[in-house]
Amino acid sequence: MEHTSEIREVRALLDKKRDKTIALVPTMGFLHEGHAALIEEAKQHADIVAVSIFVNPLQFGPDEDYDSYPRDLERDLNICERHGVDIVFHPTAGEMYPDEMEFTIGIKSMAGILDGVKRPGHFEGVVTVVGKLFNIIRPDIAVFGQKDRQQLMIIERYVENFNVPVKIVGVPTKREESGLAKSSRNVYLSETEFEEAAEIHAALTNAAEQIQSGTVSADKVKSFIRLHIEQRTGGKVDDLAIHAAHDLKTVDNIDRDVIIFIAVQFEKARLIDNLYVSI
Ligand code: PAJ
Repeated sequence: MEHTSEIREVRALLDKKRDKTIALVPTMGFLHEGHAALIEEAKQHADIVAVSIFVNPLQFGPDEDYDSYPRDLERDLNICERHGVDIVFHPTAGEMYPDEMEFTIGIKSMAGILDGVKRPGHFEGVVTVVGKLFNIIRPDIAVFGQKDRQQLMIIERYVENFNVPVKIVGVPTKREESGLAKSSRNVYLSETEFEEAAEIHAALTNAAEQIQSGTVSADKVKSFIRLHIEQRTGGKVDDLAIHAAHDLKTVDNIDRDVIIFIAVQFEKARLIDNLYVSI
């Protein structure tokens, strides 16, 4: 496995392999089994797997956890090596943004809901860095997790809108045995919170059953989820919405496939999750 923090070098390394297909797995590091599932999926689609590790300052708000975001490059490189990654690109912020960006990406309705509203500028920062990574690595495919489903859908749309020649592959969420979605931010949870946080997935799964057995009112389903979580955990539901799976429009009556999106604020961690419900 090769690794570098330099754009010039990663390009030179990849230029020797342009006769092969290349998959990119973009990450912010502190890798876990969710990231590993993306790497394994990438191997199915391409000859060469590149992983990027970069905590992107552009996608963090001023009051968010950019400085404290967990980082451990040595550990990440070991995990990549174990999973048969070919190239790891781990630039510094100065390498990616030597000057302040003159241009910005604007996102219309897809950033007008959920984390687009709760975290202003977040998805614009994500698309900016993903666009730069695509231009640096020039992958044939790129792999993203359904855990961050709004992000995945925005990137799919970006690639479509701008005719970016990269195939996007989505991977189902990897969970702890309890159902809790794996996340680099789970290290912020206390032991009790880590146990309680399993109720997020439990609440969404129960809600899916309710929908599938005929409940149509989105408000009713949301009240049920909110109550379930606030009765069983110390977390506070920060965001909860039910959107059409097809176009992310808000749904009042659940008469088509939907995605339930949730964000729960614990003492030091804001956890997000979602569940696709087909009817
Ligand atoms: P990060 O949070 O490190 O996640 C990197 C990728 O791993 C994303 O595609 C995310 O959806 C996926 N992922 C995280 N947890 C997962 C889980 N439990 N199961 C399956 N996939 C999971 O998302 C980002 O970084 C950044 O926004 C990035 C796209 C790298 C741009 O900076």
